[in-house]
Amino acid sequence: MGNTIAVVYGSVRSERQGLRVARFIVEALKARGDTGILVDPLEYRLPLLDRMYKEYERGSAPAVMERLADVFRSVDGFLVVSGEYNHGIPPALKNMFDHFMNEFFWRPAGLVTYSNGRFGGVRAAMQLRATLPEQGMITIPSLLPFGNVAETFDENGVPHADYVRASTKTFLDEFTWYVEALRARRVGGVPYE
Ligand SMILES: Cc1cc2nc3c(=O)[nH]c(=O)nc-3n(C[C@H](O)[C@H](O)[C@H](O)COP(=O)(O)O)c2cc1C
Repeated sequence: MGNTIAVVYGSVRSERQGLRVARFIVEALKARGDTGILVDPLEYRLPLLDRMYKEYERGSAPAVMERLADVFRSVDGFLVVSGEYNHGIPPALKNMFDHFMNEFFWRPAGLVTYSNGRFGGVRAAMQLRATLPEQGMITIPSLLPFGNVAETFDENGVPHADYVRASTKTFLDEFTWYVEALRARRVGGVPYE
């Protein structure tokens, strides 16, 4: 059975490059028989955080938040495609996560990072590792970082570097193990909702 995964991307810049990586990940999931749902903050235009989704009476949240909550609740796991802004988490990505909470619980997150430098966004990954578990997501041990993003992928997300597909397979094999392990365990219930 294929898994359904939210591919959460976090840049709204007009010159954004990371969409290449997000597109590549959606295609890589498809090739494995899984479904990747791209969550693009330019499509879901959330304001800077005022009220969290859970602070609204049921059924009264803005439509864009209801749509996102439906996506987050429906998936088996999260692949977070994050750049690195001043060694930290891009604000549109953090803003999108901060709107929600329980919608993420009891599922794994894999960290796919990128930058136009050599380090591939791993410093943002360390910050995501500190914050996502507070929202109920277990981050898997391996990271999938890509340096020199504009040269490594074309605009459609086709990789030019040899290492990309092999690294991605290893990473997604690990991620899938956690996705399926936690899904099997959720069938028996969760400690709290
Ligand atoms: C505000 C800002 C801060 C940045 N800080 C870093 C950084 O700390 N480390 C790094 O390797 N690249 C940094 N960059 C360069 C990014 O890696 C590069 O612009 C990348 O394409 C950004 O992702 P995006 O195009 O998806 O928005 C920064 C870019 C911006 C716009």
